[in-house]
Amino acid sequence: MSLKVENLFYTYMKGTPFEKEALNNVSLEIGDGEFVGIIGHTGCGKSTLVQHFNGLLKPEEGRVFIDGELMNKKSLKEMRKKVGMVFQYPEYQLFEETVYKDIAFGLKNEKLSKEEERERVLHAARITGLEEELLEKSVFELSGGQKRRAAIAGVVVMRPEILVLDEPAAGLDPEGRETILDFARRICDEDGVSVVLVSHSMEDIARVADRVIVMNDGTVEMEGTPEEIFSQSTRLEEIGLTAPQISKLFDKLSQEFPQIPRKVFTVEKAADILEDILKGGAK
Ligand SMILES: Nc1ncnc2c1ncn2[C@@H]1O[C@H](COP(=O)(O)OP(=O)(O)OP(=O)(O)O)[C@@H](O)[C@H]1O
Ligand SMILES: [Mg+2]
Repeated sequence: MSLKVENLFYTYMKGTPFEKEALNNVSLEIGDGEFVGIIGHTGCGKSTLVQHFNGLLKPEEGRVFIDGELMNKKSLKEMRKKVGMVFQYPEYQLFEETVYKDIAFGLKNEKLSKEEERERVLHAARITGLEEELLEKSVFELSGGQKRRAAIAGVVVMRPEILVLDEPAAGLDPEGRETILDFARRICDEDGVSVVLVSHSMEDIARVADRVIVMNDGTVEMEGTPEEIFSQSTRLEEIGLTAPQISKLFDKLSQEFPQIPRKVFTVEKAADILEDILKGGAK
């Protein structure tokens, strides 16, 4: 499914002394099956933007379309089913006695048979990387990363066509971050779900996104492939962002060693290149 945002404006507490313009004329599109990363420094409007994708916030000005259809009061209920929204720190919303019940919670109104329900829960658990034996445990027995994934599975189980993850890896250790990012890539590749990943980690976005949208002060500042975005390190630094560390390193190395390519944005790619060079050198 596709999503389009046209000339979106949003101001918090309008007409009060605390008025804060959070979005200023934002237009963008997310294509069917696409994986888009949204990046930008703290307070630039990322969460405000994505809360318009499922109608949680109503545009002050501008329009949101899902599959070409305008989001409004009438269409909102149906559209919400297509958009799975995972907020920052979703694990605080877990409350059922078992992980299974928590994941299945949203299915209550779907009138599924027990078998159908189980199948949906098992798929959501599998794709988020939760082992089946965890399902009968209490959420209190899970690690931080597992809790986070259980909360995400509770959204995935609803079979959204687009999944919006707002800082899904925040506060997790490196292994926890990796598992979540791998899951996000997998649900896009295996289930054809469009994914929007909000993050302020350049490393995370470089690893998984096909396209990057850079926000700054309530506007879309840059848009392009990771390669296009991360090669503009000066422009990124001007808006308080830094290209992934590894890309800076390769930029420098490539100036010294002609056999080293300049545009390398992930540690995995860097490792492959260095391995090839070292093997070549040992011959
Ligand atoms: N409920 C609110 N009331 C008033 N102002 C708000 C509210 N929520 C956000 N803001 C302000 O709107 C601006 C955009 O906030 P938003 O949460 O969308 O940014 P963000 O890019 O998601 O930041 P972060 O990376 O910290 O999550 C910020 O200046 C923020 O202080
Ligand atoms: Mg935010």
